[in-house]
Amino acid sequence: MDWSEEVLSNDIQHGSTLSNEPEERFENPGLPPHKPRKNESKPSLKKLDSAIVTGIFSLSALASIAAVVLYFVLPDYTTLANIRVGNLVLGLGLAIGFGGIGIAAIYWARALMDDSPKVEERHTSRTSAEAQSEAIEIMRQGVAESGVARRPFITAALGGALALVPLPFIVPLVANLGEEDGWNIGKLKHTMWAKGTRLMTDGPHDASRPIKKEDVTIGSVFHVIPEGLNDLSHEEGYADEKAKAVVLLIRLDEKDLKQPEKSLDGIVAFSKICTHVGCPVALYEQQTHHLLCPCHQSTFDVADGAKVVFGPAKRPLPQLPITVDEEGYLIAEGDFPEPVGPSYWERKK
Ligand code: FES
Repeated sequence: MDWSEEVLSNDIQHGSTLSNEPEERFENPGLPPHKPRKNESKPSLKKLDSAIVTGIFSLSALASIAAVVLYFVLPDYTTLANIRVGNLVLGLGLAIGFGGIGIAAIYWARALMDDSPKVEERHTSRTSAEAQSEAIEIMRQGVAESGVARRPFITAALGGALALVPLPFIVPLVANLGEEDGWNIGKLKHTMWAKGTRLMTDGPHDASRPIKKEDVTIGSVFHVIPEGLNDLSHEEGYADEKAKAVVLLIRLDEKDLKQPEKSLDGIVAFSKICTHVGCPVALYEQQTHHLLCPCHQSTFDVADGAKVVFGPAKRPLPQLPITVDEEGYLIAEGDFPEPVGPSYWERKK
């Protein structure tokens, strides 16, 4: 007996037929009796719930306002500590703002809206004209049951909270556009490098030393910081300045360079900050002249102006213009010609 014959014989044994008519096998159990909420019989409780909902919406609105006010009142955002405080304030404002709206809406639905069970019969999924008007009627009923019209305070508090909650996010964004100070994206445009700044080997104060041109032999690589960086304290922004100014100094045979005129007898200096999302690019392959970023494998060709040859980075590493001073030490001719590190929306290119 094959499987289809087996199924048919089972069906016959259990009394089912091949007709398309579904069998009525279950009794409709009906709905359990509706338990009214406590506040349905006590108007004072309902008033209290209503006040709680209004209060939570208002708290949300206040948190949003407070975050915006504190953003302007707090001290300048030039240090990491102040930036942290600012972020904390905005984060709390957004959390209480959005959280308050969510909690108040749930409380409103659970405590004040009608919770009597509704039965909706199954029907075909095609929406008829009657169903559409029925849906509109249900929505009207929902609005009526939510009591929006009868509860002007809740409605006003909800409107206020919804209107104000995006402000802690939007205001700092708008306030920062084009700023040179404060939460200062403008600071990313400049580094400590300036005309005449000596190139120093990276290391603590007593180990860092200026680099002479003849120290840089073909194939050698130096991790470099600007002169004066080690004199900065942490409060003066040592870490921030170092994060922007670190440089990789490499000497190639001039004939390997695509644009030798942009080098100092084969010596080139590139920002060490990956143009993808800012990891330090420090893995140099001497044979291929490729610099590899360990984070997402962006690869830059040192022989060709540190152009991207692989990976998610979109821009070459900015090149630091260098020369030598009268004592033969390598110095910068100026700052990087463009901002270092990842692209951001204020970049010109
Ligand atoms: S940070 Fe360098 S590849 Fe992503």
